[in-house]
Amino acid sequence: MSSPTQKAILLADYTPFPYLLDHVSLHFKLHPTQTRVTAKLLFVPNPAAPAGQDMRLDGEKLALKSLSLNGKPLAHTPDETGLTIPAADLPKAPFTLETEVEISPQTNTSLDGLYMSGGMYCTQCEAQGFRKITFYPDRPDVMARFDVTMETDMPVQLSNGNPTGPENGRGGAWHDPWPKPAYLFALVAGNLTAYSDHFTTMSGRRVALNIYVRPGDEGKCAYAMDSLIRSMKWDEEVYGREYDLDIFNIVAVDDFNMGAMENKGLNIFNSKLVLATPESATDDDYARIEAVIAHEYFHNWTGNRITCRDWFQLCLKEGLTVYRDQQFSGDMRSHAVKRIEDVLTLRARQFREDGGPLAHAVRPDSYVEINNFYTATIYEKGAEVIGMLKALVGDAGYKSALDLYFDRHDGDAATIEDWLQVFADATGRDLTQFKHWYTQAGTPQVTIIDDFKNGTYTLHLEQKNPATPGQPHKDPKVIPVAVGLLNPSGDEVVPTTVLELTESRQSFTFTGLAARPTPSILRGFSAPVILTRETTPTERAFLLAHDTDPFNKWEAGRALAKDVLIHKITDGAATAPDWLAAIETVTFDETLDPAFRALTLRLPGEDDIAQTLHAAGHVPDPAAIHSARRAMQADLAQHLAPLLPALIASLATPGPFDPGAVAAGRRALRLGALALMARLDGGAAATAAYTSANSMTEQMGALAVLLDIGQGAAQIAAFREQWQSDRLVMDKWFALQVAYAAPDAAAATTKALTQDPDFDWKNPNRFRAVIASLSGNHAGFHAASGDSYRLLADWLIKLDPVNPQTAARMSTAFETWPRYDADRQALIRAQLERINATAGLSRNLGEMVGRMLAA
Ligand code: TRP
Ligand code: ZN
Repeated sequence: MSSPTQKAILLADYTPFPYLLDHVSLHFKLHPTQTRVTAKLLFVPNPAAPAGQDMRLDGEKLALKSLSLNGKPLAHTPDETGLTIPAADLPKAPFTLETEVEISPQTNTSLDGLYMSGGMYCTQCEAQGFRKITFYPDRPDVMARFDVTMETDMPVQLSNGNPTGPENGRGGAWHDPWPKPAYLFALVAGNLTAYSDHFTTMSGRRVALNIYVRPGDEGKCAYAMDSLIRSMKWDEEVYGREYDLDIFNIVAVDDFNMGAMENKGLNIFNSKLVLATPESATDDDYARIEAVIAHEYFHNWTGNRITCRDWFQLCLKEGLTVYRDQQFSGDMRSHAVKRIEDVLTLRARQFREDGGPLAHAVRPDSYVEINNFYTATIYEKGAEVIGMLKALVGDAGYKSALDLYFDRHDGDAATIEDWLQVFADATGRDLTQFKHWYTQAGTPQVTIIDDFKNGTYTLHLEQKNPATPGQPHKDPKVIPVAVGLLNPSGDEVVPTTVLELTESRQSFTFTGLAARPTPSILRGFSAPVILTRETTPTERAFLLAHDTDPFNKWEAGRALAKDVLIHKITDGAATAPDWLAAIETVTFDETLDPAFRALTLRLPGEDDIAQTLHAAGHVPDPAAIHSARRAMQADLAQHLAPLLPALIASLATPGPFDPGAVAAGRRALRLGALALMARLDGGAAATAAYTSANSMTEQMGALAVLLDIGQGAAQIAAFREQWQSDRLVMDKWFALQVAYAAPDAAAATTKALTQDPDFDWKNPNRFRAVIASLSGNHAGFHAASGDSYRLLADWLIKLDPVNPQTAARMSTAFETWPRYDADRQALIRAQLERINATAGLSRNLGEMVGRMLAA
């Protein structure tokens, strides 16, 4: 890792930029291969930085056409990564630097910087894409006011801020009054149609709202617009945050590396997170659209008005904004269901990351390629840390801290230290120990034993913080453990109390109890830890039946299912009757939310089981996990057999489609029942459901059920015929076939699909549909032949020169290699070595592979 492209950037090396940027004027003469960008940058010496420094501007793949300072030409030539102007050539007073560069958006396949997607021009600048547009101090602590103009034949021309041209939002002149870092810059020009509405803010200002899409797609924007309006209202009501421009635009693009981007006043979205109709989008798609629209909108305050000093502080905006979008979705839907889903994601992605070679702190102190740090740890664990902070300071403390944060830091590029200081000042709490959550990686393991004597119940807690790469030693963390106690008849005798575990070992007592209670521990998943406690199936079943905390009620069923499954795998045990009876009770309990019942009916996934087995000291066998899980599903189907047809019939959702959480929950439970029914009737009910489906949730859900039992060939053909012209639905068609391929057929199925004429591998959605579905098919990806490992490596090597960001992201499929047996470890390592030996490997993929191999 000594190559110059693998140089680590360190938090400890932070220094301010020697100049402030008072104003930026950009002019774009758009052309597919010869776009001209003129930039006028008005610099002012930065009083906070030592005088007399050279000025280093970032710039990549830019053909410099002219360079002048205060109108006088300069002769400096750029290198591979930028341009240096020596201090001697710089005035000690304000000056204007003007550059003209030429760039080629059409041949920019990285989808970073200015590029073309489906004939339109668009940009992606976070984290460091602006340097591919013009020479610039491309760092978040350099903030400036921007004016933008453009010349192009494209009918719609957008940038940040408010339009200044005569055409009211469609002309090519824009002024953004709010100083912003370059990563929030955006420009769009294309033949687009607007779906429009407006919002009146809390102070009575009217804001024009537009969602720009390709002509023909305007009928698919209503849900995204509705989500935007609800987000704007919610941020006013819950956080007191008002929108601050006259216009808010969203543009949907087909070629996009991630979900969406919060550019000031001009959010750019992956079209799959905007476009939805009942026929073409699933309930999960609707929920994600709502959440991501909210997320990007909420960034206007947490990210844009208050941004990050440097990229090490990424969680400052991402963790907080995820936390806010989770609160929003909970308010819009169900807090219980949302929390369970968020914890499922956290464990599947973040615990997995934290337990492997790519583990890093929520605030890392070193990186090679910042794009590799848009991770589950920064986002999801970053949000968990905020939830813990709120649990520790209380709702009122959280509110006053947030008010102070917005007040004190509006307009700043801030740090995690600033964030914690606000909490300390607002609540008087010392957060020195709490800061470890930001700086120390790894998932704490909390072990609990209990005893009961003379009416006194004691919980003995112990925490262990395992070593992670580069961090052999960890300090004890402050862990909020929310606990409630139930008496033997299932009534709550001690309501939820937050215990603060601050030592390695600590005991907590509850007095005055008539009988030994059953503890409900880590309610609401109050901390992102792995909890272990010796317990019995009977106690888990008791909690599943009686716990008043909905998260822990679900968790009890989940833990019970895992125990059963793990016994099946490790000692061939029969499926426990306790579990079957408990699941039956919940599934048919009509007082419970159908969405909750659907989640309880869902068995833990295979990767989750592998993770759990590994944590318990076993070497997971993917084939054995696969067959044990299927056997358990079959046993459950047998057990529920007499009841399933009536359940399926009772959950039909006739009438016009309702995207709301209640109707979605009914569809989810119905599909869960159909999946079990398919084990009994050979797919007859699922076939009928496919035929009568009147939403994509039902159509795709029924198709998945059929594929999972090795059927569905006719439906796959018909589905393609029906949806051939809808790119987003065709992504589902590709993904389903790989996700449900039998373990020994997964590599071959994937390979065949990569030869399909519609496999457009340069489109990240399509690439992910096929390639990420392979790594998501646990038994198929880990088939003993190693064919899937090879296939993934082949595609990463092929994609890397074209789109290094997406290639690096997909490489995390290999991060779990240390879990498996020696043969699989050797097979995966061989592929990592092969990638590593590839000439011209990107910094992105090179860093990822290097970190995985170093484990
Ligand atoms: N800041 C964006 C978000 O969280 C995500 C993002 C970062 C992104 N880098 C990106 C999106 C690159 C697309 C491409 O909402
Ligand atoms: Zn974000």
